[in-house]
Amino acid sequence: MILSLGIETSCDECSASFVSYDGASLKVLGLATYTQLEEHRPYGGVVPEIASRNHLEQLPIVLEEACRQAGLSFSDADVISVTNRPGLVGALLVGLSSAKALAYTLNRPLVPVHHLEGHLVSPWLDAGKELLSTEFPAIVLLASGGHTQLHCVSGQPMQWGKNIIEDSFLGCSRDDAAGEAFDKSAKLMGLPYPGGIELDRRARMGNFKSFVLPRPMMHSKTHEFSFSGLKTAVSLKVTELKQLGQLEQRLSDLAASVEAAIVDVLISKLEFAVQEKNAKSVIIVGGVSANTLLRQRASTELSVPLVLPKLRYCTDNAAMIAAVGALRHAKGESIKDYFAINAYSQAIA
Ligand code: KG4
Ligand code: ZN
Repeated sequence: MILSLGIETSCDECSASFVSYDGASLKVLGLATYTQLEEHRPYGGVVPEIASRNHLEQLPIVLEEACRQAGLSFSDADVISVTNRPGLVGALLVGLSSAKALAYTLNRPLVPVHHLEGHLVSPWLDAGKELLSTEFPAIVLLASGGHTQLHCVSGQPMQWGKNIIEDSFLGCSRDDAAGEAFDKSAKLMGLPYPGGIELDRRARMGNFKSFVLPRPMMHSKTHEFSFSGLKTAVSLKVTELKQLGQLEQRLSDLAASVEAAIVDVLISKLEFAVQEKNAKSVIIVGGVSANTLLRQRASTELSVPLVLPKLRYCTDNAAMIAAVGALRHAKGESIKDYFAINAYSQAIA
């Protein structure tokens, strides 16, 4: 049994978690996350300097809380796992420096984790046995605030190589990410920050057929996405509705229409990739996998079975980071000489 202590500080979630791995399943023993909503709300988006300073304050608190929930202490950890890319470099460095300090004082190895690989592993957190019978190859949609990518994986996470993100990569968005399209549309509509969740909530009360919005690249036979045109269309609609004095009363209809446009594109691209790769299942991860309509439609409209993370593991959390670290440690790939490990803003070096 491996016990991994994970740290995630790549953006605005400060999170720590204890995860166990017994060679078959990944169990979350403790997970504490501080979300910096109030700190960034006045600015309508994440301010990197504020994020770093807040991580410094919150990380010791969430670490203690993760230990308390797990009934474990730092010294029970076999390995320290920490996100070192991609993300805000200042924010990443707070987590990475703390992880190095912990590893050094405890005399444990460290695993630097690619944040997107954490998302890829997230459906296996606290999963039932059914996930072990998932059929491969599987098409993975990784849709978060900063990334929208398609991957094709050929086996269980335990079999993935070190460069799984690059090796399985099929394609990504040419411009905005899907989460960004949710967030920016919500902001244009005047919905409270953070936009994605709020737009989801409003969409439940609206009619998705109310407004005709573009679905860029929906039928292009590629693995690429484009969401920036949708943002422009939403901006024009908002201006028109404001001029008519109807924005408030049509807000839910517009939210539902925006959501339907984004989800249509995601489902269509997934099905294209499934057919092209003759895939046996689909996995959707990243913050956008929490979206109500996407979860509903992907489970009924795709031609192959769907795998989703539990809702609490869709958005950024340290459990998925601890999980990657546990898997690496099990393969003998944790690092003892970790002082030179750095943090990087980019997904690919
Ligand atoms: O994976 P994540 O927590 O952070 C990044 O790595 O970026 O994803 C955050 C993104 C944000 O854009 C947020 O608006 C979106 O996920 N999101 C949602 C929902 N919950 C989170 N988008 C649509 N519907 C939701 N329910
Ligand atoms: Zn993320």
